[in-house]
Amino acid sequence: MIKLVVATNNAHKLDEIRAILGNKIELLSLKEIGHSGDIPETADTLEGNALMKARYIHERYGCDCFADDTGLEVEALNGEPGVYSARYAGEANDAEANMQKLLTRMEGKINRSAQFRTVIALIIEEKEYLFEGIVQGEILHERCEGEGFGYDPLFRPQGYDESFAQLGNEVKNRISHRARAVEKLNDFLESLR
Ligand code: IMP
Repeated sequence: MIKLVVATNNAHKLDEIRAILGNKIELLSLKEIGHSGDIPETADTLEGNALMKARYIHERYGCDCFADDTGLEVEALNGEPGVYSARYAGEANDAEANMQKLLTRMEGKINRSAQFRTVIALIIEEKEYLFEGIVQGEILHERCEGEGFGYDPLFRPQGYDESFAQLGNEVKNRISHRARAVEKLNDFLESLR
């Protein structure tokens, strides 16, 4: 079985990825390989950050691994918050403050189109690969709470009547940006077998 380290400290994200990949691939957390502490992500693109995180772990532990980076890209805001989604309202990665800032920036905007975009950087057998997953939708006028995290209460995916948060993790894991990127990763890994 292919064994991969997931270069993230976000337990929520690891659960989502595990739910999507099932038991087909053995996934190890950073904790399981004895890594603690933050991984630098100072690039100005999702691709750059995903590669930076995967390389950081690969260089230190020599393992096959992957990292992802996600941004919410809002059309009327020229792609904001994008790569800065976590820190939109400040360094604290405070989801409430980030959503409030987004709602304020969207005041009076007719065009509510947005997309979540995930980029996964995989390093396997000393080669690097990138996979992208996108889900299109729109920014709601107010939070519609439920499960999930981050901007989920404010994002309604195309073709659905409820926010990601209201749809819940089971639906989200089938249709999300991360799910689509992880599915591409999965297809690639299957092709290696
Ligand atoms: P990351 O690169 O996956 O850590 O994502 C950066 C930021 O984007 C997070 O801190 C969240 O604010 C936001 N984000 C990423 N994925 C999601 C999601 O699935 N739902 C809502 N917000 C997300």
